[in-house]
Amino acid sequence: MINQSQLPASAFIDPRGGNKTAVDQLAQQVLQLLLTHLQTADAGSPLPQLTKLPVLTEIPHTPVSESKILEQLQTILTSSMNTAHSGCIGHMDCMPTTFSILGEMVTAAINNNMLSLEMSPLFSRLESALLQEFATLFGFDTQAGGIMVSGGSLANLQALAVARNVKFDALQQGITAQTHQPVLFASEVAHTSIQKAAMLLGLGTSAVVPIKTNANSQMNVSELRYAIENAKQNGKVPFCIVATAGTTTTGNIDPLLEISQIARQYGLWFHVDAAYGGALVLSEKQRPRLAGIEYADSITFNPQKWLYVAKTCVMVLFKDIATLVNAFRIQAPYMSDPDDFINLGEISVQGTRHAEILKLWLSLQHIGKIGYSHLIEESYHLTDYFIQQINKRSFLEIASQPETNLICFRGVPAWVSKTKWDDWNADLQAHLLQKSKIFLSLPIYRGSRWLRAILLNPYTDEKVISRLFDEIDIYQIQRELLIGNRKQ
Ligand SMILES: Cc1ncc(COP(=O)(O)O)c(C=O)c1O
Repeated sequence: MINQSQLPASAFIDPRGGNKTAVDQLAQQVLQLLLTHLQTADAGSPLPQLTKLPVLTEIPHTPVSESKILEQLQTILTSSMNTAHSGCIGHMDCMPTTFSILGEMVTAAINNNMLSLEMSPLFSRLESALLQEFATLFGFDTQAGGIMVSGGSLANLQALAVARNVKFDALQQGITAQTHQPVLFASEVAHTSIQKAAMLLGLGTSAVVPIKTNANSQMNVSELRYAIENAKQNGKVPFCIVATAGTTTTGNIDPLLEISQIARQYGLWFHVDAAYGGALVLSEKQRPRLAGIEYADSITFNPQKWLYVAKTCVMVLFKDIATLVNAFRIQAPYMSDPDDFINLGEISVQGTRHAEILKLWLSLQHIGKIGYSHLIEESYHLTDYFIQQINKRSFLEIASQPETNLICFRGVPAWVSKTKWDDWNADLQAHLLQKSKIFLSLPIYRGSRWLRAILLNPYTDEKVISRLFDEIDIYQIQRELLIGNRKQ
């Protein structure tokens, strides 16, 4: 052991148990702090207001005492976005499963590296096996497989990199020899990570041709067909279609089956960004909403959203894992090369990577398919209740018919000029946070401000939603009184 006189007793966990008391005490204190915070989450605000950082950022010269650190940790907890709050329903950031929190601790503690089989023998094999099972759930056959990456944007990047390499044989040569611009098609409301991917892949954001959507935010397939023909006539080279299953702002699902047929007809790679909606494979009742996804060449799916696994936890699946290997693999000479397994770091954008698989595996073991399907189906009931509340109020409208548990709506009071609706809704958002401790996000959709609710939290119930609508009513009456449109 090196001389540790300058270090606190619990700086590391002594592998011979020499500092057991100090470490146990510290760990228990942190765990208790965290559990108390989570178990009283509803007493706070979903979204603490910060005007300045509540902790010092200066790197201390000498170690800060553990009691002082714990004090600061408490401040950090209470000053952070409170995703466990039952009124924190504005984003796709879920309350994590208990086992994914605990799993993260285990993953960090054993600190294996997903770069190679040698560095994470169990986790590498577990990741491949579990992802193969997810591939089956999505309707792929035994040739399918995938890898995990840290976020949906990276998953989309990885899928599009493979699509580009396959279609233009670009693994070695790149696409600089292309005299005609490669283009791909995604709906006008697809996630911005598609444009980022196009930019990073040397195609430029202009390579993403936006396809108009219908009133429910779903890709219009005649427009898609027209855009492909148009691109070809203009000397461009279509190579891929991206469909979305669960759009970011309204949670809608593109017509996957029809799009898959168009992809086949034109010989295009078919990628489905099911970052959000992919969870529906675990609900027998809702699974048909994804019909056609089985014809995809690749799929992005984020268990960090609707499977409640702590961030980050994302997979990209390929219909044929050999395609990923042939079109993407870069062998690393510093890694041992097992006969029966390809090191995951050779077929992934990332090299060194955290073992995100453990928290996913633990959550699936603990909750099971039946638990997940229950969570998903319950949130559909709650969505129906939410929609009923909107329909009862003539001053509210929805942006699209929900197909998931995401509701995008806004106030359109007849007595307020249309040009003031954005302000009216922005003020309503602030009012709801302040008066009912409910946080809705305020996305811009089709050029206007809307309010967005995502009913993920298992502790958000009809009571919380009633509280929300009671407060919406109060706000609207107060506003009417204010301008003298309504008599007291
Ligand atoms: C449909 C969709 N795709 C991709 C992403 C990007 O995922 P990430 O933020 O994990 O990179 C999101 C994020 O919300 C999304 O909604």
